[in-house]
Amino acid sequence: MCGIVGAVAERNVTPILLEGLRRLEYRGYDSAGIAVINPDTCLDRVRRVGKVQALADSLQQTPLKGSTGVAHTRWATHGEPSESNAHPHICNQQVALVHNGIIENHTELRNAQQANGFHFTSETDTEVAVHQIEYYLNQTGDLLEAVRLAVKDFDGAYALGVVAVKQPGRMIATRSGSPLVIGVGIGEYFIASDVTALLPVTRRFIFLEEGDIADITTESLTIYDKAGNVVEREIKESNLSADATAKGEYRHYMLKEIHEQPLCLTDVLEGRIHEGEVIDNSFGPKASEVFERLKQIQIIACGTSYHAGLVARYWLEAITGVPCNVEVASEYRYRNPVLLDDTLVVTISQSGETADTLAALRGIGDRAWKLCICNVPESSLVRESHLTLMTRAGPEIGVASTKAFTTQLMGLMLLMLAIGKHRGLDAERRHAIIEAAYQLPGQIENILSASDQIEQWADAFTDIDNAIFIGRGTLFPIALEGALKLKEISYIHADAYPAGELKHGPIALIDSDLPTVAVACNDGHQEKVKSNIQEILARGGEVYLFADESLDMSELGDNCHVMPLPSVSAEMAPIVYCVPLQLFSYFVAIRKGTDVDQPRNLAKSVTVE
Ligand code: AGP
Repeated sequence: MCGIVGAVAERNVTPILLEGLRRLEYRGYDSAGIAVINPDTCLDRVRRVGKVQALADSLQQTPLKGSTGVAHTRWATHGEPSESNAHPHICNQQVALVHNGIIENHTELRNAQQANGFHFTSETDTEVAVHQIEYYLNQTGDLLEAVRLAVKDFDGAYALGVVAVKQPGRMIATRSGSPLVIGVGIGEYFIASDVTALLPVTRRFIFLEEGDIADITTESLTIYDKAGNVVEREIKESNLSADATAKGEYRHYMLKEIHEQPLCLTDVLEGRIHEGEVIDNSFGPKASEVFERLKQIQIIACGTSYHAGLVARYWLEAITGVPCNVEVASEYRYRNPVLLDDTLVVTISQSGETADTLAALRGIGDRAWKLCICNVPESSLVRESHLTLMTRAGPEIGVASTKAFTTQLMGLMLLMLAIGKHRGLDAERRHAIIEAAYQLPGQIENILSASDQIEQWADAFTDIDNAIFIGRGTLFPIALEGALKLKEISYIHADAYPAGELKHGPIALIDSDLPTVAVACNDGHQEKVKSNIQEILARGGEVYLFADESLDMSELGDNCHVMPLPSVSAEMAPIVYCVPLQLFSYFVAIRKGTDVDQPRNLAKSVTVE
């Protein structure tokens, strides 16, 4: 989704802004722009549709120079991707602004501003923000006051970076509903949507809280909370290095992140197991009390994180006996759900900033305990939850989630074990599961080093338009995730079904042009999956089956291609089986020549509805 970078320094900030934009490319965008206050105290701006490289090329032709500036990558919401809709937006050559989020009452504000003589040059909701600030700046003569008054008029979500030509060397930054960090340099300050944008210039960050407004100059930083009081916000040191977001030897971030999974899974376990038991405190100091008292679990998430939640439901209900619901956040937040007493709400999110998940969490108020499984420690979801477990996957740059997913699953496995300890899950079973978890990195390494067969299978999918994925039990959510991966990066339409549902409708689709990808482990459902595959084969379908190496699939014949996977316990199977499906989508996408890391229309962190 949109990305913001801003800087106030003694030096020319254009290269810093441009590099920041490059580092935010992974968030997803369709145009980019930079505005700086030049040495003659005028605003200079360059905007381009398409990649940041197009902007960089233009800056070669028309270099911008200035020590105060803002920059943006835009993911279109209101108005098509075009130069006039791209940020920064400027009013009367006086104020420049970049915005993430959506100003929901933009039509009303636009009408009022047009009546007051403001001229609009874009179709965006954002342009009302810059006009409103310029309006108040004319009245008050002070940029901070102008922003403070303007945001009171906005309904919706925003993170803003604002500069004004009459106040060079000053930037106002504020957030409500969209994330924004301040990077603290030596005699210079920066703003960005996330820390990765600023790692080449600083590792010291302040995470603005909801409603904060920051008044930033080279000499000072003053932060006001939403009540207008001056507040001290802690400076946090990031342990990420500038090259933490580098691709290294890999052709794509997605491939790098797939290969990082064995290490990441080891990291999830690190320091959280003692004598074969999950340490409750890994989730926070009050975790034991909550796990003891909870009567039901409600999981809320979106996309891939939702699929992780679906797997967890199988684990939690089957192994701990605790009732568990799972729902996509965009539905949960609007349907007035019933929450029983002593419910633990679990949100799952890579970014911790997903607008729907955050809104669903906020809607719960104080009616439940809130636990968040997340990859970004300073994110809004983490800050607004009672209990947390960090997945420690490191920055995930590929838009298609891979290591974030497997580490979420491992985190949920730890949660299941911790709750199970309070629910009579016997120690022997707990220890066996943990023992099996420690084996996972090695088993996944084996899959990664034997990917040739998966690559060959990908050839058969290069020219197809549709595919079906099937699985049963914990592997049904893995089929869903496999289909999502294929859709996201290869643009092939793919649907996933519980294998047993096929005959209730989808089997009508089966013919020789519609391949099926199936997953089957040794979990007691294998014979049923085999029967479902037979039903597909009998109708002329072709099947690509990832199956436990101990299962005999020879009877399925030549139209069922089988790739054996390491024998793992039923509990561990989802974490292992998603990996070949990730690789499979990747190889198909490579053959189709799509933009693997930044697929069309998608954003990494979905911070608007
Ligand atoms: C998965 O590949 C996607 N990037 C998407 O479905 C993602 O999982 C979803 O938007 C939720 O994001 P979150 O985990 O950051 O909340």
